[in-house]
Amino acid sequence: MAGHFKTQPLSQHYSDHPQFSGFMKPCRYEGEVQNLEVYGEIPKEIDGTFYRVMPDPAFPPFIDNDPWFNGDGSVSAFRFKDGHVDFKQRYVRTEKFEKEREARRALLGKYRNKYTDAIEFHIRSTANTNIVYFNGNLLACKEDGPPFAMNPETLETIGLWDFDGQLESATFTAHPKFDPKTGEMVCFGYEAKGDGTPDVCYYTFDAHGTLLQTVWLIAPVVAMIHDFAVTENYVIFPIIPQTCSVERMKDGGEHWQWDPKIPCYFGVLPRHDAKGDDVKWFRSKNSFPGHVANAYETPDGNIIVDLPIGDQNVFFWWKDAEGNAPIPQEIFSQHKRFTINPKSENLDLPEPVVLISDDNEFPRIDDRYAMTEHKHTFLNVMDPKLGTDFPAIAPVMGGGYPLYNALGHLNSKTGTFEKFFVGPKSMVQEPIFVPRSENAPEGDGFVMALVNRYETMTSDIVILDTRDWQKPVAEIKLPVRLRAGLHGNWVDSRDLKKASTNGVVKAHN
Ligand SMILES: [Fe+2]
Repeated sequence: MAGHFKTQPLSQHYSDHPQFSGFMKPCRYEGEVQNLEVYGEIPKEIDGTFYRVMPDPAFPPFIDNDPWFNGDGSVSAFRFKDGHVDFKQRYVRTEKFEKEREARRALLGKYRNKYTDAIEFHIRSTANTNIVYFNGNLLACKEDGPPFAMNPETLETIGLWDFDGQLESATFTAHPKFDPKTGEMVCFGYEAKGDGTPDVCYYTFDAHGTLLQTVWLIAPVVAMIHDFAVTENYVIFPIIPQTCSVERMKDGGEHWQWDPKIPCYFGVLPRHDAKGDDVKWFRSKNSFPGHVANAYETPDGNIIVDLPIGDQNVFFWWKDAEGNAPIPQEIFSQHKRFTINPKSENLDLPEPVVLISDDNEFPRIDDRYAMTEHKHTFLNVMDPKLGTDFPAIAPVMGGGYPLYNALGHLNSKTGTFEKFFVGPKSMVQEPIFVPRSENAPEGDGFVMALVNRYETMTSDIVILDTRDWQKPVAEIKLPVRLRAGLHGNWVDSRDLKKASTNGVVKAHN
């Protein structure tokens, strides 16, 4: 029964857990600032908007030690034009956000556990994981429900988005992929028939939002599938060994529990004209697959998947059945390349090749090369040798979020790997790539990312030119602090203009 497990007293302030302290203190504001302060020069070629979303609880949770991931989605937009940048920020008006605002208190319980809520919700999504642009709308996504559509200019929430009633799956990944050749959006949902179901729904939309196909398949375990990979002819589902039990949820426990005994599965399904039982579940050793940089096929028919992957449970706060969890400071993901022969009858995958041995995550590529062979990967790196002054920043850093002190640029053709250190008292968030021009060669352009400045407790956007990785061309000073976000994307102004002629489709609430 909803509310049955509500044991914490209501508080009007956040707890002093690390995920609510220091730099991670919830920001909680909406607004706009015109003409942010710029040091250096913003290249005139940069014309478009950098959107990103952060979990930012609007009310103090009543669940003790609620993870950072459970906060309300707050979307930031940085509009670049003619060397200037304007900033706007709005919360996504989810059902949760609206009902909590009305009640002036948190009502949602534990992460993905409806049995711990104070009231019943139709849709529990906090829309806090990714913000993507599709067919004229922004879609604020979290993997446990459909997305919420937002107006890309105003950041006003249009409503829950079911693609004009075409969405069969109860869930929609936070990491849909976009085919740069066709504009197609390739998607999936897991636990796609509700909590604890092994059903995975794979589906695609054409560039105008028409559903092209739906394929239902069954996963070998009910476990987390956060991101996936797409090539010209295949889709690949890496399964994180965090498993779900509805019985545990009903007892007021966690949705997820780490299982050190199961393999890391890679489900491979033909991308076109597939049936559910065409999927093959390949196996690698128990490990934690992170965000996919890209995937493609080689001329001899193999599938290449590049991604950071760790030997330990990266989501350490969801422990194993014995209560074991790694020490956060020891969690480590290397960037690896898997080679999968989709025709193989041997389902045990060969060992992947290490591309980057430093701890890294949040890989991005030049999106024009998605689903085909890429050479350039941009990502977050943690290299303690670069000189982060941990004793100085530890008291104000807060915690419960991943720490990276450099932006990395890997050229996987030449094997070169460059690192830009963001400074001894700073950490950096996920990068995005902006091509220098529509026809610029792969990886020629600019990389930008938010940087947490612990000395001033404010945020900057750093812009690097990929031709000179060591010296930013511009540093943009925000007058505010933006706590750790999850994902963001660049939308070129040409694409925004194109969409405004399509018109915005009505939402279904
Ligand atoms: Fe993600």
